[in-house]
Order: sequence, then C-alpha cells, then structure tokens
Amino acid sequence: MKSYIIIDSSKVIGKKNQNFFGSFIEHVHNCLYPGIFDPQSIFADKNGLRKDVLEEIKKLKLGTIRWPGGNFSSWYHWIDGVGPAKNRKRKLSYADDITREESNLFGTDEYIRFCRETGTQPYITVNAGNGTSLEAANWVEYCNSSGNTFYANLRRENGNIQPFNVKYWEIGNEIYGDWQVGTKNANQYSQTLSEFSKAMKRVDPSINIIAVGMGKHDPDWDRIILDNCWDYIDNISVHIYIGRHEYFDSFGQVFTIADHLRKMEDDIINISQQKQTNHRIGLALSEWGVWYRKGHKDDLDEVYNLKDALVFASSMNLLLRFCRTLDFSHQSMLVNCVGLMRTKPDALVKQTVYYPFILFAKETGDVVLAPEVWSDGFSCKDYRYFPWPTFDVGKDNFQMDESSVPEIHNVPYLDVSATYDSKENKICIIAVNRHPEKTLSASIELRGYRHKDTVSVSVVNGPDIYSINDFDEENVKMEQYQEKIKSDTNLQWDFPAHSITMLKIQNS
Ligand code: AHR
Repeated sequence: MKSYIIIDSSKVIGKKNQNFFGSFIEHVHNCLYPGIFDPQSIFADKNGLRKDVLEEIKKLKLGTIRWPGGNFSSWYHWIDGVGPAKNRKRKLSYADDITREESNLFGTDEYIRFCRETGTQPYITVNAGNGTSLEAANWVEYCNSSGNTFYANLRRENGNIQPFNVKYWEIGNEIYGDWQVGTKNANQYSQTLSEFSKAMKRVDPSINIIAVGMGKHDPDWDRIILDNCWDYIDNISVHIYIGRHEYFDSFGQVFTIADHLRKMEDDIINISQQKQTNHRIGLALSEWGVWYRKGHKDDLDEVYNLKDALVFASSMNLLLRFCRTLDFSHQSMLVNCVGLMRTKPDALVKQTVYYPFILFAKETGDVVLAPEVWSDGFSCKDYRYFPWPTFDVGKDNFQMDESSVPEIHNVPYLDVSATYDSKENKICIIAVNRHPEKTLSASIELRGYRHKDTVSVSVVNGPDIYSINDFDEENVKMEQYQEKIKSDTNLQWDFPAHSITMLKIQNS
C-alpha cells in the first residue's frame, strides 16, 4: 500500500521549549574521564577538555547537560571538586555496585566551563544519598550567589567572579533503588526533598527543583511525592532505558516510554485537581536511551547498530508528542558508555544513534504538529517495562511470563513527526521507515503551508539493520542534499528501507 502523510498547520500539539533535547554526562566508566576530560590527550585544550569531543557536542545545539550523575551524585561531595587541582583529594567512590577511584579533577568550575564551551545550560543533580540539605544549599551559594559570604567568595577565589546562575537542580538520583547510596522510600524521600528544596530556594528563589520520580515501576511513588511536595518542586523526573534484540519488539519498547510518561501526566493532573492549584509541574526525562546489551557493571560500552538508531528516532518522534508536559529529555550519555560517540586516545567515532539525535536536537522547530499518517503496519510485543535491571546480557530476558506480554498490531512502518520553526518559517518532517526490506512510497500533503521548489534532505541509513560504526568502519552515515520538487503540489517521496529521513521545507 502507498503511504500518506498529511501535515496541517492547524493541528498543533504544543510548543517545545529550548531545553527539550539535552544529554547527560557522568563520572562512570569512561564517560567523563577520559571521554571528555583528559589533560593527557593529544586533543586536550588548555583546560584538559577534549577538543574533538567539544566540537561534536557544540554541533548538537543541546539545551541542558545533566551532571555529575546518575548514581555517582548520591555519593558526591561537591566541595572535594573545587579549588586548585593539586589540593584536590583522590577519593574512593562507592556510588553504585562498582567501587572506583575519583580524582575530583573535574568539578563544578570545570563543568561550568564545559557548558559554556558547548553552548549548553547546566543541570546539576545534588547528593540526596549521603549528602545534606546544607551541603546542597552551599552548592547553590557557590554557583549562584553574588553576596559576600564564604562559598560565593570561594568561587571568586577559584577564579570565577561572576555567578554561574545554575537554574536547574535535581534532588537525588533513583533514590528508590537499593543500588543507590542512601536509598529511601517515598515518604522518607518526600521529607528529604522538601528540606532540600526549602534550603536551596532560600539561597536562590529563582532555581527550578526537579524531584526523583519513578513512572510505572511503582504506581504509588510519584503520587506520594507529588502529594507531599507539590509546592516545593517544579518538575518530576523519570529514567527510561529501552531496547530489545528482536527487531520489531524493539519498537514495541517505544510504547513503554509513552506508558510511563502518560501515567505521570495523569498523576500530575489528578493531584493538581485535588489540590486545586495552578502551580505547574512538568516532566523531566532525566535519563533515557537504548541500553540492553551490557549489564550494569563497569563496562557500559554499547556499540549501537542501525536498528538502535531507528529506535532512537522513533523514541524522539514520540517525545515530541509530549512537548506540552515534558520540559527536559536527557539522552544518556554523551560520550562512551551508552553514548552518542566513542573515543579512544587518538580517535572519535560517531555511533549510529548520533545521527538521528543531531537531527532532532538541532533541526526540529519550536511548534510541534500532529501529522496524520497511513502506512502498512507490523505486529510486535509490548513488554511494558524497560530491560534494566533484570536483563541478562545477550538475551531478551525480562524474567516475565511471555504469555502475559501483550501484542500490538498495525504499528505503522512509517513513523513521522512534524515541527514548524516559527523563526525560520520552515517545516521539518522526520520520517522513520521501520520496514527492514522495503522502500515506502508516500504522498505528503501540506495543509496551511506552501512549499517552494526545493527541499533540504538528510537521510541516515546503512547496509542493513545490524550495521554498526566502529573506529575502523563507519557503515551508518548521514547523506545531505537539496532536491528540486514541484511547488504547491503534494510531495511524492520514497523512503528507503530501514532509514531515517528529514525533509526541511521552506514555507512561502
Ligand atoms: O548511566 C548509568 C546509571 O544508570 C546511572 O548512574 C543511573 O542513574 C542509571 O541507573
């Protein structure tokens, strides 16, 4: 069957904010050291940051980059990471199930410099594991205060006269889990959260506080946090990792993201109605990504294939549809581990997932539209839960009774998002052809927009769905070109098998 896409300027879902697409860097495995900070590297700038990595990050045009963790934050004492490098203490980090050594050479000042170099906004996760509200408030003072007090002066002594103005502060990380330092139940965390928020907002009332949420894993967690802490928080977060070995079931996992976010939206609506409040609470997907091959040990290096890139693209098509409630989506992580790119001492390689990510992060417009799409479909399983932490390396093993896993039918092969850039007056269509073998021919009708006679095209593809990029072989690439089209008629477009296509159209 031929596919049809209708993009109508009046079918608007909402506006995506400038922080919508972000990322995450953590002091785990080889993400931060040596992926980003490595004074010994041949690529290091005068501050020890890898220039090749910075260049790639800059191109992404990200909103916020979350730091220092992840699990790492539940152990991290920020004061250890400021001041002259020679005085910083190496410490044992027992943030999760791996005990590592932390040099503390990359701390707050280095992170702010990294954000400035990459044109991004800071987003800090404070230690709610074995840290205190006082320590967190002091961190806000160090970063944001222009007063004449100890921590603000300490920042000045360290060479930063002007405040950093860090707006986004998340209180803890996955604090519900027993892998976390300082695990808490929902009522205990509510108390911690409100105390932290109170103390931190007294130092700087303009900051945004993000709470640790849980999505569907524990249906009560978010409700308890929202009920107890509504006035203390601005966002509630969730972490969602997806991925399957089986091709079609991988796309079923995208429904898992939707399930979690919808459940959280419902909780927010219900509790705001009960409380009769106008204070808005948004969602923060503070970690998301494809992660199913590696365990949660000290080797997190996923080498992604084209299938994973298609899942990435479909996930971001979905995320856009949540633009009214979702304020942040931090792809996890930027470098190495489950990263967009991998490094070794003398080279950098862009993973397959880098390409769809840059299209969404850099090219999508501020107005999110609701395209109508007709195409043939496939069936897949909806496992409902993401693989981690119950998966076995190399297997699709959820420790679930397979007969209880629902099947979904007629999932369209062609998965499409459309946005409109109100500054540039351009329409951006991103279409994922999830058919593993067939080109899909589509007729695209624009309603309320008029296109000129050229379209800018970007196509991400590779030889087959299992193609990977490695240091010595780059099989998945992005081709970019301009194509002549007939003005003011429906566009006829062939979307190649297992590809991601972005069409950027000037409205006239
Ligand atoms: O990204 C690695 C870990 O995964 C993070 O530290 C944690 O938040 C998540 O579980």
